[in-house]
Amino acid sequence: MALTVLVVGSGAREHALAAGLFASADVERVLCAPGNGGTAGFAENVAVDVEDAGALVLLAEERGVDFAVVGPEAPLVAGVADALRAAGVATFGPGREAARLEGSKAFSKRFMQRHGIPTAEAAIFEDADAAEAHVRALGRPLVVKADGLAAGKGVIVAGSVEETLEAIDRVMRKREFGEAGACVVLEERLVGQEVSYHVISDGSRQLALAAAQDHKRVGEGDTGPNTGGMGAYSPPPVVSAEVERKILERVVAPTFAGLAAEGIEYRGALFIGLMIVDGEPSVIEYNVRFGDPETETLLVRYRGDLLELLRGAAEGALAEESIAWEAPASMCVVLAAAGYPGSYPKGLEIRGVEAAEKEPGVRVFHAGTRLEGGVLRSAGGRVLAVTAIGDDVDMAAERAYRAVERIDFEGVQFRRDIGHHARSR
Ligand code: AMP
Ligand code: GLY
Repeated sequence: MALTVLVVGSGAREHALAAGLFASADVERVLCAPGNGGTAGFAENVAVDVEDAGALVLLAEERGVDFAVVGPEAPLVAGVADALRAAGVATFGPGREAARLEGSKAFSKRFMQRHGIPTAEAAIFEDADAAEAHVRALGRPLVVKADGLAAGKGVIVAGSVEETLEAIDRVMRKREFGEAGACVVLEERLVGQEVSYHVISDGSRQLALAAAQDHKRVGEGDTGPNTGGMGAYSPPPVVSAEVERKILERVVAPTFAGLAAEGIEYRGALFIGLMIVDGEPSVIEYNVRFGDPETETLLVRYRGDLLELLRGAAEGALAEESIAWEAPASMCVVLAAAGYPGSYPKGLEIRGVEAAEKEPGVRVFHAGTRLEGGVLRSAGGRVLAVTAIGDDVDMAAERAYRAVERIDFEGVQFRRDIGHHARSR
């Protein structure tokens, strides 16, 4: 076979997916829409907006795309996977209906409540006065979540009743996240360790991937504002065999049974954000896609044929019985521009990526980068995802950080404590 594959998105997750697909013997050509400076090295970047379903269908038709993978949530929620499938393109990624699990926090909370899936207790409001009255009546701080997509910023973990009321005001009255704040979910704060659990579904069968752990706060010791993720590793020790069994039985099984009972087909990756509280998993959120940077840590551990895996899911015929992980552990350290997650400069010259990739077991995935006349420059807040495999998390960390030392751009910031729950040194 000499297949043409389309990857929609421009992050390090998409670089890792595109590289994995390109490595398959059956893939001749990879198109990335729009891709980045890393995918430009082996794929063809096409400047198309990720949410423009019409333009993506046209691209697929013109270029004879055999298989498409939709990376980010916004196009999935906008129905890009439905449009591609309607045009006859086998597509990895759930349709608009299933994507509501991420696109609406009220929908996903009600879904969990309907199907008895463990999650924080919550109430849902479309009226700010009623939401405020609820907080005052309870008299304790709550987590405030804007219902719609807000680029990962629509969740405020309030520390006091005052802060909770202020958050409701920002989300519902000031509409800081736009129409995403027309409705809020107010829920109890869970205290524990967060983990990312990925499942691939072909519509009727599911395959669980290895657990991973992201570090969402910008600062070391998990401090400062939330980001898209500053680094991840796999596997996290908090997911013992016993905890994983509970995740599969109490969360994964009822989630897919619930989808089936509601007549919602799911072909793609479901990334379940969980809080593990004293060994008990509780769902914080569903994401209808692969996580970033979790995907980078999972794909470097995986040595099977990525095309076979993802295309099998898209076509309703997952081939593997379970996933064989060749590398026992991995770590990904995100290099970000100064100022991220606030405003940051772009266009900074990046040096040392090639040298970093010469370190054993290291892959450097690009996020916000572009190639400009042969020079690699930054083009986003998260710039690079430096990823390494190892026999254990300590070894993966040593390799990843050695590679990080070789890369430089002005004001580069990164966390030195990725994997702190799993590292002994
Ligand atoms: P989300 O966008 O739903 O992933 O929320 C962003 C972050 O807020 C999560 O990664 C958690 O760190 C935090 N968060 C969300 N819900 C809760 C909760 N019920 N208790 C504690 N932290 C939460
Ligand atoms: N790393 C978190 C996310 O992809 O949402």
